[in-house]
Amino acid sequence: MKMREQGVMRGSGGPNKHFAEKIWVPLLAKNTLAPRSSLAVFILILLCIGAFFSTRLLDSSSITSLSVNSPKKSIFTALTSRNHPRPPENPKIPEKPQENQRTQIEIPLNCSLGDTILTCPANYYPSKFSIENPDPPSTPQPTCPEYFRWIHEDLWPWRETGITKGMVRMASKTANFRLVILNGKAYVETYQKSFQTRDTFTLWGILQLLRRYPGQVPDLDLMFDCIDWPVIKKDFYLGPNAKVPPPLFRYCGDNTTLDIVFPDWSFWGWPEINIKPWEDLSKDLKEGNKRSKWVEREPYAYWKGNPAVAKTRMDMLKCNVSDKQDWNARVYGQDWIREHQQGYKQSDLASQCNHRFKIYIEGSAWSVSEKYILACNSVTLLVKPQYYDFFTRSLMPLQHYWPIRDDDKCRSIKYAVDWGNSNEKKAKAIGKAASNFVHEELKMDYVYDYMFHLLSGYAKLLKYKPTIPPKAVELCSESMACPALGLEKKFMMESTVKGPSSKTPCIMPPPFDPATLHSIIERKEKSIKQVEAWEKQYWDRKSKNV
Ligand SMILES: *[C@@H]1O[C@H](CO)[C@@H](O)[C@H](O)[C@H]1NC(C)=O
Ligand SMILES: *[C@@H]1O[C@H](CO)[C@@H](O)[C@H](O)[C@H]1NC(C)=O
Ligand SMILES: *[C@@H]1O[C@H](CO)[C@@H](O)[C@H](O)[C@H]1NC(C)=O
Repeated sequence: MKMREQGVMRGSGGPNKHFAEKIWVPLLAKNTLAPRSSLAVFILILLCIGAFFSTRLLDSSSITSLSVNSPKKSIFTALTSRNHPRPPENPKIPEKPQENQRTQIEIPLNCSLGDTILTCPANYYPSKFSIENPDPPSTPQPTCPEYFRWIHEDLWPWRETGITKGMVRMASKTANFRLVILNGKAYVETYQKSFQTRDTFTLWGILQLLRRYPGQVPDLDLMFDCIDWPVIKKDFYLGPNAKVPPPLFRYCGDNTTLDIVFPDWSFWGWPEINIKPWEDLSKDLKEGNKRSKWVEREPYAYWKGNPAVAKTRMDMLKCNVSDKQDWNARVYGQDWIREHQQGYKQSDLASQCNHRFKIYIEGSAWSVSEKYILACNSVTLLVKPQYYDFFTRSLMPLQHYWPIRDDDKCRSIKYAVDWGNSNEKKAKAIGKAASNFVHEELKMDYVYDYMFHLLSGYAKLLKYKPTIPPKAVELCSESMACPALGLEKKFMMESTVKGPSSKTPCIMPPPFDPATLHSIIERKEKSIKQVEAWEKQYWDRKSKNV
């Protein structure tokens, strides 16, 4: 992982300003029964239509290797209806100015026990809150972004069997920790401390989810592995007599594995390399984008990172400009030690958006840098990836990025940059689409909603009632943040969820039916092939002219 950025955050308004979510306690009459039930009927009809079509498609489609995971049924309907036991009110009800009628609820961290004690204060939020505030908030919610549909795919292996205690225990083999949520409280058993603060900030993110949706995250029991590479091999679990795979959460997957993907720690901060929480960092990047227009940027492809972590990155260094060649690439190695000594001045992410093209290339697995690169308004040149994380499966070539061959990187980059510089409007649009995707569909609200829906769907599959493991400790935001020091503390304070969300989670979209999933994958492959064909033409023409 390679990105860093400068740690000056003082001027950004303090930890309070980035919490958009507020709780509004309705003081007006609850006259919403009728609209609610008609909405429920509507949803029911929709579900029936959906079920009809997906069964139809199931019958008629040839199942390809990619759509093996696709026919869905019970988890889905269950997920959709279960997470929304109380549909939002009818939007037609005339809205009065809400400020006067609702009270915003913020629940600050209670560090009164002191900065050294690792226990949770008595009656800390959120469990108490859910009792006091049983009313659902009232704004109708939008449907979640498309990438949420992959939640259905990730949970597909357990659709028929459910998840037993034995399966979860099997997943402990490589897990760093086990997380149990009971009545809105978190309990953690640590098996092995992770690399750096990955586990800490992952757990911190989950605690913030519990603050955001108090009492709404169902009881669950899961295993989490913080290492880069997915390990649950599909091959072991296919075939007539195969066992059901152990459910294991981690940050990325690939097409040969069944690990369940979960947002990585960097959304709440990465203190070791001074990457601040995504909420603030994405704002910096947005601001940075205003500083330079696309056409005014350097007309080259930029990359900066640590090449030593992967062969393919070392290979890309060959594409750098020299006296003998110019592949239109400007690539730089990151010197961690020097940058640390210099306070990361050279690695401010927001100031790295001054090229028209930015290269994304995987490191040892997926790289957290992808969202920072996509956020730049530059055209992302995406070197063919092997891994996916929770949001990248919905990125489309030529819409959100330009695909780059892994086996012929220099020529591929050269062509991409030439194409973009001579098709400015189209290139700019690709950069903008990626930026919009990241700033809109990947904002923290949706990251939390993704976690919410994934964990709810997972919990739904459990065949047993979770209990607190004997060696687990109760974990709350206070017990993590109060004793934390330095950047860790700062990032925790900045990413603390201020209080319960005034909104219910977005509405979970239905699973892909096999035909749709198939056509998405086909469309993706087709565009990549198209680019490869253009590339070939370009180079054929060049070689004839020389
Ligand atoms: C903070 O926690 C302490 C210790 O549990 C408790 O006595 C106190 O009432 C709490 N303060 C608030 C404001 O909830
Ligand atoms: C790539 O070329 C630029 C310009 O010559 C140079 O500054 C940079 O250090 C080179 N990158 C690497 C990794 O050698
Ligand atoms: C899996 O991905 C690799 C490249 O990452 C590709 O070569 C292979 O064809 C893919 N397999 C399937 C079944 O899609």
